[in-house]
Parts: sequence; C-alpha cells; structure tokens
Amino acid sequence: MLRTHTCGELKGSDIGKSVALCGWVDTRRDHGGLIFIDVRDRWGKTQIVFNPAVSPELHKAAEQLRSEYVLRVSGKVFRRPEGTENPKLPTGEIEVVAEELEILNASPTPPFEIMDDKEITEELRLKYRYLDIRRPSMVRNLTTRFRVSKIARDYFANLGFLEIETPFLTKSTPEGSRDFLVPARLSPGSFYALPQSPQLFKQILMVAGVDRYFQLVRCFRDEDLRADRQPEHTQIDVEMSFVTEEDVMKVIENLVAAIIKEVKGVTVPVPLMRMPYEIAMNRYGSDKPDLRFGMELEDATEILKGSQSKIFEEVFKHGGAAKAIRVRGKADYSRKELDDLTKIAQDAGAKGLAWFKIGEAVESPMRKFFGDEQMKKLVSLVGAEKGDLILVIADEWLAACVAMGTVRLHLAKALALIPEDKLALLWVVDFPLLEWNEDEKRIQACHHPFTSPKPEDIGLLSEEPLKAKARAYDLVLNGNEIGGGSIRIHRRDLQKKIFEILGISDDEAEVKFGFLLKALSFGAPPHGGLALGLDRVVTVLLGLDSIRDVIAFPKTQKGICLLSDAPSPVSDKQLKELAIRTEVKVKKSETEDGAIPG
Ligand code: AMO
Repeated sequence: MLRTHTCGELKGSDIGKSVALCGWVDTRRDHGGLIFIDVRDRWGKTQIVFNPAVSPELHKAAEQLRSEYVLRVSGKVFRRPEGTENPKLPTGEIEVVAEELEILNASPTPPFEIMDDKEITEELRLKYRYLDIRRPSMVRNLTTRFRVSKIARDYFANLGFLEIETPFLTKSTPEGSRDFLVPARLSPGSFYALPQSPQLFKQILMVAGVDRYFQLVRCFRDEDLRADRQPEHTQIDVEMSFVTEEDVMKVIENLVAAIIKEVKGVTVPVPLMRMPYEIAMNRYGSDKPDLRFGMELEDATEILKGSQSKIFEEVFKHGGAAKAIRVRGKADYSRKELDDLTKIAQDAGAKGLAWFKIGEAVESPMRKFFGDEQMKKLVSLVGAEKGDLILVIADEWLAACVAMGTVRLHLAKALALIPEDKLALLWVVDFPLLEWNEDEKRIQACHHPFTSPKPEDIGLLSEEPLKAKARAYDLVLNGNEIGGGSIRIHRRDLQKKIFEILGISDDEAEVKFGFLLKALSFGAPPHGGLALGLDRVVTVLLGLDSIRDVIAFPKTQKGICLLSDAPSPVSDKQLKELAIRTEVKVKKSETEDGAIPG
C-alpha cells in the first residue's frame, strides 16, 4: 500500500499514528525555517510539516516542491500548535510531521490555481479538464452525480425493474432532433444513427414481456446547444407495462423525492401537484413553470376588448388574448428599461409590449385608447397599487402567453425575486397530442409519435386532431423540464392512424418503424414510461447554471471537446474504407495521420 489514509480523513483521534499519504502539492509555505505543504487528493487536504530539526535533508528536498507535484509522504500525526488549528478544514486539528518524502511525479506550473473561488474561464477549464476536476467543487458535482445514479439504480432494483442496455448503433428514433450518423463500413452508403433515446427499444422490451425496464443511458441529439443541452446527455430511462399515467408518475415522484432527500436533506411531499398544460401556459406562460415566485399572468382579454387601440382590436377579432402582469414598485422604470423589456417580449415572439405606470393617474402611451373603467378593471385584475407597473401583451393566445412568460422570468431574475433555496416540483399534464409547425406547414407530435391520445379524444383525430390531448406528463423542477414521458400507443391500428395524421406514409412508416409496428402486432401490452434528464436533475439540485458542470468531459456550445479537440478531420484512407467523400477541404496537418482526405 502506497498510503495508509486519504488526505481528507486524519483527525484528532489519529494523533500519534504513523501514516503515509499520497497526493498533489496544493500549497507550499515557508515559515521561520519550517516548510508547510498542503497535500491534496479527492477527499481533502492535509498539512505536512518539514522541520529541519527533524531532518535537514528532507527539509532541503521539500524546497524543490512545486504546485501539483505528486508526492508520497510518511510521518507522524501531531496536534497542531495551539492557535494554528483550522476549524474550516476537516483535518484542521492535526498536521503530519514528515519523516520520508518521495516525489512520484513533477508538473509544470498549472494554467490556473486549483481552487474554487478563483475566476477561471470555462475555455481553460475544459481544455485542462483534468486539472479542473481536481477542484473541490467539481469533485462535489461528480460525486453528487454518482450518488443520484446509485439511488436510481437501487430504487429500481428494489422495485423489480431490470436494467437492460439497448443499442447505440441503431436506426433513427424520432425525438424531434437531428441524428448523429455513423457510416456502416460493411454496408457502404448506409448509416447507423446514434439513438436520440431508447424509445423504440424500450417499447419493444415491453412487447417482450420485460414489464419493468430502466436504464441509465446516453442519448445523442444533434441540436443547437444551450446551457441545459448537450449533444450527448444521460437519461434515467424507464418503461412499465400494464400501467396508467398515475402509476408511472407515482414511481418517478417517489424516486425524485428520494434523490432530493439524499442530496438536499429536504422532504418533498408527494404526490406532487399536477398542473394541466393550459393552466401552466395561462398563468405562467410556460409549459415548465417556475413556481418559486408569483407574478402570475392574468387574462385581460375581456377587460380590454372594445378600445380605440387598432392593434388590440385586431388581435381580439382573430380570437387572440391579452396577458397582463403586475411588476411591484416599478412605475419608476426608465424609457430605456421599458424598451429593453419590449425587446425581450419581441424576441420571445410578441409584436409588442404595452406598459402602464400606476401613479395618481395611469401613465402610458396607450392610456388614451382605453376608457377609465377599463383601466380601473385592469388595475384591480392584477392587484396593482400606486407605484406599480402593469405590462400587457396582446397577441395570438399562445404567443402572448409565451412572450409574457419570458418577460416574467426575466424580471424575476433581474429583480432577484427567486428564493434560491426553494424547490418547486410539479407535473405538467394534459398536453396537446399534436401541434402545428408553422415553418414546415405540417402537424407534428408534441412529445413523440408513439404517445397515446386520451381515450376520450380518439374521436377527434379525424376531424380536429389538434384538439386531441395526450396521455403525456412532464416533470418540472424550478422552471426546468427534468423529465418527460407518456402512456404509449400499444395498438398497431391507432399507431398507423397517428402516422397518417403526421403525414408519414405507410411506406415511410414501414421503412422507419416497421420493426416497431410489427412488434406491436405481436401482443403488445398497454405500457408507458418516462425519462429523467440526469444531467439536468443534478445541475438544478446543486444550483448550478450549466449542465456542463456536472459532466466530466462536456462539449462547448459549438459541440467541441476542447480537451481532445473532437471533432476532427480523418484520413483519406478512413474515408475510403467507409465509401465517403467530403466536400470540405482539410489541411494535411489537421488529419490524424497527416494524410490528405479526398
Ligand atoms: P425527452 O426528449 O423529453 O423524452 O427527454 C427526456 C429528458 O431528457 C432531458 N434532455 C436533455 N438533457 C440535456 N441535453 C439535451 N440535449 C436533452 N434533451 C433532453 C430533459 C428531458 O426532460 N423517449 C422520451 C422519454 C419517454 O417518453 O419515455 C424522451 O427522450 O430533462
């Protein structure tokens, strides 16, 4: 054994013991002839003392030590002299007086100090991720991630679920994103797709009688990246047979409650709130409402109808809505601040943003269009008082809700209205089954095409498919969608009908999902499931801003791994083997073996 203890575990009760520690040089201080080295590993730091009176050679050797050198030190544990204890450190009571020192490896000066409270650019952190992961906050993040995975595995194992791996080299699965493709050398011109999720395979496992499946699984989606999105993310993926929505939600909310109890020490009361999609949109302007603060949207449509405003009247004529919020105490917002808010509303899809400052009178460029009675009702609708600001967006219902929801979130952050330590967890249910894609002028599935409509809405599918609701549910934590799932279609005829509505022809369905349709025909049980986004769950519970902080080797917003420089061009030979020619010219030096790709 190179070591007897880790660098985080020696305490007062170890005083007098002979120990050996291994780790990295965190800091070196020279004090009045003594050299103090903090030696660090994943578990913490221990102070080592090199005393020339104990060993002049060792003291001399310690002079050569630099940051991040790798050491093995043995010596005796002593109580630190009175007044020099460090109560902030778990090992702060003791120090080890060195009797032997072995330098196991040297290191150049690191590009940043390995400590938490230093501002380090993310680029540098990702490039030198092995140094970044030495920092205590990254150790905590990865440890928490592992604990969450372990709770999930134990939880499902106890309930009789089987963890079953599904293929990575597979056929495209329609989760609404672009596929990453892998050329198949043995079938030139053909490609595997990396799974956007194991959706089809887990359903097939239900046909296979597995009944209760789960998997901690990597999913690949070639989509535009954001703080909460990575090209490869991990799901806690679940599927169950002979269940209703409530059964699935119960299993998942108990798991999430167990995770929160372990990570935060907080007991979440279950069952969680179930909020219909329409209410979430109407009140919060989002299908993942953040319930940690109020500032709810009010519907001012009826109150503001019949004004002189052409814009508002036009919106109402076409069945649109006016959504309003009260911003407490902000009647003093400057023109610039109001213009900035308008820009936020417009970027979120609204045509504009009307504002009303509540003082002795109501002040607004729009004031003249509305009657006194309308203003009075608006003030009372949102519960405004003198000194408040009222914001109104009139637009097509969904656009007005979404834009006002975005303004609400922006203001909550800007005005620090969100209590950091609060957890707001809820289910959003009763989603529409289908939605209209204006860009592509077609109907698409809100979740995925295997989601079951509500039984009472099956009749709507032929005439008014957009009115049908889905047996789908999303789990929302502090305004983040941390999971989503549904009861699936288990009958081949209904699945075909949905494909038809989605404009997927019989031939196309056969080519893309023929294997699923065939499987469904062989006695598929009623089934449903869900997937939790593991990266997001851990990120939100740790109060972090980006999922990159809970992934050991994440990619940048541009999908690049700064550590390995992936993706990178490949050699001509590799491309030839795959029967692939690229149109992009690459410099010879950029290919892996220096050969020019053709
Ligand atoms: P969905 O697409 O909603 O459902 O994904 C499930 C959860 O995975 C997380 N997630 C992501 N996390 C990080 N980066 C991404 N790019 C990313 N995309 C999704 C989210 C999301 O809620 N097969 C279905 C599940 C089912 O119906 O059972 C699915 O994949 O937290």
